[in-house]
Amino acid sequence: MRVEIGFHDREEEIKELMNILDTRPDIITFVYGPINSGKTELFNYLIGKLPEKYKVFYINLRGVYVREADDFLKVLFEVEEEERTVREFLKVVIDALPRSVGGIPIPKSAFLRFFEGKEVENVFRYLEMFFKRISEKFIPVLIMDELQVIKDVKIDELLIYKLFNFFIRLTKELHICHVFAVTSDSLFIERIYAEAMLHGRCRFLLVDDFDYEETKEFLKRKGLSDEEIAYVWENVGGKPVYLVEIVKSEDKRKKVEEILSVRESEIRQRLKILREFGERISIYGEEYNVDYERVIEALSMFAEREHIDNDEIDEISKRYLVKLNILFADPVRGKIKTQSKIDLIAIRNILHAR
Ligand SMILES: Nc1ncnc2c1ncn2[C@@H]1O[C@H](COP(=O)(O)OP(=O)(O)O)[C@@H](O)[C@H]1O
Ligand SMILES: [Mg+2]
Repeated sequence: MRVEIGFHDREEEIKELMNILDTRPDIITFVYGPINSGKTELFNYLIGKLPEKYKVFYINLRGVYVREADDFLKVLFEVEEEERTVREFLKVVIDALPRSVGGIPIPKSAFLRFFEGKEVENVFRYLEMFFKRISEKFIPVLIMDELQVIKDVKIDELLIYKLFNFFIRLTKELHICHVFAVTSDSLFIERIYAEAMLHGRCRFLLVDDFDYEETKEFLKRKGLSDEEIAYVWENVGGKPVYLVEIVKSEDKRKKVEEILSVRESEIRQRLKILREFGERISIYGEEYNVDYERVIEALSMFAEREHIDNDEIDEISKRYLVKLNILFADPVRGKIKTQSKIDLIAIRNILHAR
C-alpha cells in the first residue's frame, strides 16, 4: 500500500515567512532547527505557493563538499552555454526564468573567468548586478540551505564573512532581495548570534519538530487511533521524518519500537566509544579532551527536565553532544534541549539502565 504523505500545514511558520516576503527586504532571516525538523520541506512547499512576482534562487549545500572557492562557485552558479556578454545575457535570461532555480544563472565565459581567475570580488559584483536586474521586474528570494557547510572555508578571509556582507548589501542597504539562510547546526547559529557584524541586521526563525498538537493532528489525518497517537508521542515524539516512516509502516507499534531502539543503540555506542577510547574536540582552534563522566553528568540533567540553561553545562560536553546531534543549543532562547524528543526518551532509558 502506498501512503500519500503530502505537506502538513506548518501554518505558523508559513504565515511568518509570508509576512517577511510581503514587506521590503530589510534584514537577513536565519532559519534554524534540529536536523530533519522539516526546514527544507517548508521552503519547498513555500516556493510552490509563491505568486508569480517572486523569483526564487534556492541553493542547497547539503552533501556538498566545499573546500575552496571553486567548489563554492560550482554550487552557487548554474552555468549556461552562452556566447553573449553578461549584459545581453541578463536581458534575455530574466524573462525566461522559471519560478525557482537551483543556482544563479551565469554565461559560461563569465563563469570560467571567475573560476580561473579566482576573482571572488568580481563574483559578488556579478551577483549584485544580477539581483539588481531581477529586482527591476520581480522580487528575488535567495535561499541558502545548510549554509554551515562553508563555515570554515577561507578565501583570503572567511568566505562566510564575504557572504554575510553580500546578504547585508542585498537586504539592509539595497532592499532588493529577500535572503534566507537555513541551517541545522546550532553551534553555527550560536556563532552567528554572537557575530557583531550581524547585530540588528538579522532575525532568527526556529523550525522545530512538530509539537504535541501538530503531531496529533498529523497522525490523526493519516488515520491513526488515539491510542496509537499517544504511543507514538510517548516513544518517538514529533520529528516529521519518523512520523512519516511510522505512517507508512504496516505494524506501527513495531516501527515505533524499532525507531526508538535504533536511536538508543546509537547513543549507547557513542558513549561506549567515548568511555573506552576518549574523544577530542576542537574549539577555536584548540583541542580538548572530552570527559566521559562530565558528559554523563550533562546528560543526567535531562533525567527530569526537558530544557537546561546554557551555563548549567560545561562547554566541552555541550559542544560534543551538539556535534553528535544529541543536544540542540538554541542561542536565541538561551536554552539547551535534546535534539528531538526521541533523544530525550533514549537518554532517560540509558540513564535508567545504568
Ligand atoms: N510539514 C511536513 N509535512 C510532511 N512531511 C514532512 C514535513 N516536514 C518534514 N517532513 C518529512 O520529514 C523529512 C525531513 O524533513 P526536511 O525538510 O528534509 O528536514 P530538515 O531540512 O529540517 O533537515 C522530509 O523528507 C519529509 O518526509
Ligand atoms: Mg534540510
